[in-house]
Amino acid sequence: MIKSLLEVLSGRKQAVPPIWMMRQAGRYLPEYRELRAKAGSFLDLCFTPEYAAEVTLQPIRRFGFDAAIIFSDILVIPYALGRSVRFEAGEGPRLDPLDTPEKIATLAPQADFTKLEPVFEALRRVKRGLDTKTALIGFCGAPWTVATYMVAGQGTPDQAPARILAYQHPEAFEKIIDALVDNSIQYLVGQLKAGADALQIFDTWAGVLPPREFARWSIEPTRRIVAGVRQQMPGAKIIGFPRGAGALLPEYLERTGVEGVSIDWTAEPSLIRERVQSRAAVQGNLDPLALIAGGDALDRAIDDVLDNYAGGRLIFNLGHGILPETPIAHVEQMIKRVRAYKP
Ligand code: CP3
Repeated sequence: MIKSLLEVLSGRKQAVPPIWMMRQAGRYLPEYRELRAKAGSFLDLCFTPEYAAEVTLQPIRRFGFDAAIIFSDILVIPYALGRSVRFEAGEGPRLDPLDTPEKIATLAPQADFTKLEPVFEALRRVKRGLDTKTALIGFCGAPWTVATYMVAGQGTPDQAPARILAYQHPEAFEKIIDALVDNSIQYLVGQLKAGADALQIFDTWAGVLPPREFARWSIEPTRRIVAGVRQQMPGAKIIGFPRGAGALLPEYLERTGVEGVSIDWTAEPSLIRERVQSRAAVQGNLDPLALIAGGDALDRAIDDVLDNYAGGRLIFNLGHGILPETPIAHVEQMIKRVRAYKP
């Protein structure tokens, strides 16, 4: 059977766009919350293949999405690099800050991939549990976004600690980026070998950078990852998500060479159609808050995405992850409306 998501990434527009959601396995689902409580810590959930595979499949069983995304986190790479990574309930990630050139000099260049073997095992399990029309997506964080958490030791409103460090000590900062580029290539190739059909690179914090810094810290490392993965896996299909990149999206596409660009809800439609969708697949871009709102406002927001982009290659998605307070009925309303789309 054909996987519609791969068709779109291979240049073949679908009459009805494939649909999945970022963070589709998560706290808005009671079956996720149940297994999350049983697993203990968030990392135990990620690193127990039976559990990780199960939560990956939960939204597929419930909603029949066209793609599953392996349940893990972008911070498993710092973890495999030997950094301490914890997820505090209700507070998000906590790492030991890597915020001086002296500390950065001690960073290991090579990750311990035995620590990530459970992710590969979970991918193999999910693959066995999926039908032949549902694509399996592997992922990593873009080096810039992962580095922002490694430097600050946590999420911050604008990732200022990493931005300041990158201005003051670009060579030291580059050392973090280089380690992330090399290990992300190995990690993504491992995910493809374990059964992933396509890959997504999450650059959640791309939008806080001015153009010169964006080129250096977001585009260039992503370009190196795409080239490095393709060297080993020539046909690899890759989606980039430089959240908030706005008018810099065409440059991102041109220089990274990804097959798909995930866009957030602030994107300007004619720029996207003319300078991004003309050359690649577009993924997105429903506002997750419209999904919380529901009703007519949700229908209108869905129709806007379809009217703007379904004339070309579109993978229907949100502009960022689904939020925990989202009603399940609204997700069902969205899927029904997208699947009923008539060009
Ligand atoms: O999309 C999926 O369903 C796959 C799983 C996935 C998770 N994180 C699970 C998760 C993916 C693709 C990610 C990526 C990720 N992780 C990003 C990039 C995308 C984005 O959302 O911006 C970032 C920045 C992270 C780092 C991270 N992990 C943060 C900031 C947090 C805390 C915020 C939160 O939502 O709690 C996490 C925790 C996390 N990762 C959860 C999930 C389901 C929630 C943890 C829980 O269940 O308690």
